[in-house]
Amino acid sequence: MHSRDVRDTFLRYFEEKGHTVVSSSSLVPTADPTLLFTNAGMVQFKRAFLGEEVRPYTRAASSQKCVRAGGKHNDLENVGYTARHHTFFEMLGNFSFGDYFKEGAIEMAWELMTERYRLPQERLWATVFHEDDEARRLWEKIAGLPPERIVGLGEKDNFWAMGDTGPCGPCSEIILDQGEDMACGPECGIGKCDCDRYLEIWNLVFMQFNRTSKGELEPLPKPSIDTGMGLERLCAIVQGVRSNFDTDLLRPIIARLEDLAGEAYGGPDRLKNVAFRVIADHSRATSFLIADGVLPSNEGRGYVLRRIIRRALRFGRLLNLKTPFLPAVCERVVELMGEIYPELQTARGFLHQIVTHEEERFAETLDHGLRLLQEELAALKASSGRVLPGEVAFRLYDTYGFPLDLVQDALREEGLDLDYEGYEAHMRRQRETSRAAWKGAGEEIPEVYVELAGWPPTRFLGYETLSADSTILALIRHETAGDQAEAGEEVEVVTTATPFYGEAGGQVGDTGWITGAGFKIEVTNTQRLPNDLIVHQGVVREGLVRVNDQAHLEVDAERRARIARHHTATHILQATLQKHLGSPTSLPSPGTP
Ligand code: GLY
Repeated sequence: MHSRDVRDTFLRYFEEKGHTVVSSSSLVPTADPTLLFTNAGMVQFKRAFLGEEVRPYTRAASSQKCVRAGGKHNDLENVGYTARHHTFFEMLGNFSFGDYFKEGAIEMAWELMTERYRLPQERLWATVFHEDDEARRLWEKIAGLPPERIVGLGEKDNFWAMGDTGPCGPCSEIILDQGEDMACGPECGIGKCDCDRYLEIWNLVFMQFNRTSKGELEPLPKPSIDTGMGLERLCAIVQGVRSNFDTDLLRPIIARLEDLAGEAYGGPDRLKNVAFRVIADHSRATSFLIADGVLPSNEGRGYVLRRIIRRALRFGRLLNLKTPFLPAVCERVVELMGEIYPELQTARGFLHQIVTHEEERFAETLDHGLRLLQEELAALKASSGRVLPGEVAFRLYDTYGFPLDLVQDALREEGLDLDYEGYEAHMRRQRETSRAAWKGAGEEIPEVYVELAGWPPTRFLGYETLSADSTILALIRHETAGDQAEAGEEVEVVTTATPFYGEAGGQVGDTGWITGAGFKIEVTNTQRLPNDLIVHQGVVREGLVRVNDQAHLEVDAERRARIARHHTATHILQATLQKHLGSPTSLPSPGTP
């Protein structure tokens, strides 16, 4: 069965059972600050579960794009080392909003597994939340599972939650025994190990609660169902392969890498095989995230994307891939998935541009950083040490933009550890230093400007001129610092010098235009931050603007002249009032009767 048929079989089955098939939502959850990325099929239905939104249907099914990296469900560091972890994957799910509950969910799941996908019944097991006798009984009744193939597990395994807050409930998983030859040892067993013998296929969540920000469990208005099954895993089973990377979803991407590297996957070098898998996985996450509007940056979602890209680039070095290689791999992702997810086709050119730029930018520092890391590791081993000082990881981050993941991968490969506390302490100290520099000016740093806290002041040219040329130092989009912004995006721009007057001391900020080769930004306001950094706020009207671009800054001269007249008039009015009424210090304070 091709992955397309595996996906279709699922959706058609639930359609037959009265479910509305709903398209995947974006990887960026709309209006949900509790989540970094969409990490499960239920995310787009969160409000329906909570009873805050009524949909025209009570049963739904979807194949949802998911990313599990950097948030509550974070799989990034395992990707590549196992047959089944991913940063990006598709989750098949069926949902009931106060319609059927445990019995209906188990009945349909069992029928689909055994009659449509024809999985061998004798190798299927179920887990239940250990206090959930009802689910246990239902598995016995509906599937005829013997009691020894129904395993009760605790909250860690069988209580599912979307995030720290939100809908949650006990769950029950369908597990496939892949065979004794896959066992990890005598202790191998469900709930005892994490090896590949007992493969979790499908998670049925019995949504019953909403976890509040205080950690309390409030009952949902109606018990509901949320299920999640990784398409990649299911494909591996149905296609008779033991690794998700051997399915038609991922193997063609590895094939593209084989061409680029001139080497075959599956050879004797274990680490090279890890590299093939890491890049194949990360190219999917990169393509889908960029197609959903996430761009590499130093904060938030953009930083997770940057970490994913940089991790792929680092593993590219192990395959001796020449820079830039990632755009060609992402192109393969578009070829494979673009028909089902047209947003990939729409983003094709843009994706190529962003990934090329990001890769080229990091290539040189990657080599320097890797050299430094190798030297440090050699020195550590020479002194029979096992723990890399946190300061080294911090220096790699601070100087070479090495996300911690890269250091951890290298350590893992050598069987070494990191002094994580030491690393954190250095990070903390750096954050405090920049905060202190800012607070010296007597103000709290708004979160969006934290990145800019330690920067030198902008040179203000606006007393001498209303137009000037300068370089773009930083771009802030959607509350994250990014390296570029495109037409239609709201953006804040910092340049080395500017003729724009930043709002401070009672005079409003200037407006005008910032233009350059291929871009045009309309500046609608200008602010001066307490560290005398001048930030232009506006909208990209045309093209794509990047950090380090040359720019021409032009203040709206007529408006500036009007502001100047008003400013002067205000001072005259104030002086006159003071002359007639006295200065503010001689006036009674507003609180005095
Ligand atoms: N929402 C169910 C799961 O992610 O397993």
